[in-house]
Amino acid sequence: MRNLFFLTFILLLFNCKEASKKTKKITKNRGLVTDKAMVVSAREEASKIGIQILKLGGNAFDAMMATEMALAVAYPYAGNLGGGGFLIYRLSDGEIGALDYREKAPLAATKDMYLDEDGNVISGKSTVGPFAIGVPGTIAGIFKAQERFGKLDVKTILQPVINLADTGFTITDNQERRFRNYDSIFTVVNRKQIPFNKTVKSGTNFTNTYLAKTLERIANNGRDEFYKGETAKLLVDFLQAKGAIITLEDLAKYEAKWRKPIQFQYDDLTITSMSPPSSGGVCLNQIMIMVEDFDLSDYGHNSLKTIQVLVEAEKRAYADRSYYLGDPDFVTIPQETLTSNVYLENRMKDFSFEAATAVDSISHGKILGYESEETTHYSIVDQFGNAIAVTTTLNGGYGSKVYAEELGFFLNNEMDDFSSKPGEPNYYGLIGAEANSIVPEKRMLSSMTPTIVEKDGELLMTLGTPGGSTIITSVLQTILNVHEFDMTMQEAVNAPRFHNQWLPDEIRMEANSFDKGIINQLEAKGYTINESRSPIIGIVDGILVLDNGKLEGGADKRGDDTAVGF
Ligand code: GLY
Repeated sequence: MRNLFFLTFILLLFNCKEASKKTKKITKNRGLVTDKAMVVSAREEASKIGIQILKLGGNAFDAMMATEMALAVAYPYAGNLGGGGFLIYRLSDGEIGALDYREKAPLAATKDMYLDEDGNVISGKSTVGPFAIGVPGTIAGIFKAQERFGKLDVKTILQPVINLADTGFTITDNQERRFRNYDSIFTVVNRKQIPFNKTVKSGTNFTNTYLAKTLERIANNGRDEFYKGETAKLLVDFLQAKGAIITLEDLAKYEAKWRKPIQFQYDDLTITSMSPPSSGGVCLNQIMIMVEDFDLSDYGHNSLKTIQVLVEAEKRAYADRSYYLGDPDFVTIPQETLTSNVYLENRMKDFSFEAATAVDSISHGKILGYESEETTHYSIVDQFGNAIAVTTTLNGGYGSKVYAEELGFFLNNEMDDFSSKPGEPNYYGLIGAEANSIVPEKRMLSSMTPTIVEKDGELLMTLGTPGGSTIITSVLQTILNVHEFDMTMQEAVNAPRFHNQWLPDEIRMEANSFDKGIINQLEAKGYTINESRSPIIGIVDGILVLDNGKLEGGADKRGDDTAVGF
């Protein structure tokens, strides 16, 4: 009788566990689920236009052109014609590739262009105003991708974007706040009030007819309109009047480049991410291999042990980033060694759960402060099974703040992603090595990490995020959230994030999102916690292929991001 009672108790317990597991599954917070296709981006208008292009029979590369330009209209904070970016793609037949449309240093750039006669960095020169601008790559990038893989003609793709610029989009609360905050710097840099200013209110309609005209010329005349045509002349006249060093020759020489992406295995996942001149893929590869042998799912999400392992691997990867990485067309990067299992095993040899590893025991005492965080990412899966991950940027919010009013767009301040003076912090606290010093036509080092994940040879996920140096660790945590911690795409992008980048010697955490007991234990082990650096870390957008073949969108709650699909 007693045995029967015990057995019943065990069965009940088991059933309760099963029931609670089932309940947990039912109550999972899923993002938008669709059958065939999806676009997730920083603005609903851009996601909708991407989907509109897919519904017209276009594919992910046609939708890329439309979405990227729609972000330039409706999300000028980071969407752009005056910046650059990176694309990772996976075609329906499994072919993988990468496109680099990163900005370049102008021909007249010099290694010391941001230093005064005493060799000190001139504050602000690489971040604000005409000297901060790198040669833009975005138009070259979207055309190169669309020409090779797209199906529709450019006029069909750009027409809805031109209409959006002409008829306008609705200003969000976030945009009103930003226009208010940036109003005075816009006015100082442009020596007049520009259309994006503190009088623009949330909920109102905002049109950009100059941008509509620029896009119309590009739609009619193609890629070269931006690099050699009337738009190029208008842009260079405008920039030179402002004192910038970019010339028509700079624009004419710009080319986007196909690159071999970084690819590696983590458990049963194949992960493909961006190669140099972005540090994203190399660092993601290094961190994931360094943590692979630890039982993260057993330790638990954002548990003490998980945080420790990730932080220590991040420290080591960012120390390497600082020293070795730069534009591969200009510097030799020991990529194979940096990503080899033997090297990475060795890197983690001195890790212990007992105490934080001291940063000065890790590596070359060079790099890095915080990069600016204003970039944007979109992910697309089309109805043909192609997937893309695209991260694009002006660098800082609204880039250099230089606004070419008659063209309707902002110019980047990407020159600040170079190390202005190797070995010393620049305006944003960045310290860099020789590998990332300024050379004419060189591309500046990036952290952008557009990433595609496959499982058993099939597409599993496409994702990425803005966030400067925190891009890499945000992408990392999102992949682990799905793979190790069984989260949905939406839960994975929403989950609280932390970040370590070797220097400064601190774990940055999203405020009030982590267990205080764990924070105390980390501090007791010698870690410094910074919960006040910024309220959020990254704004991840991703798409997950579910077991039934449907697509789940993860549009990060931290922004105005939206998934749209069918
Ligand atoms: N400008 C940010 C990055 O490229 O990482």
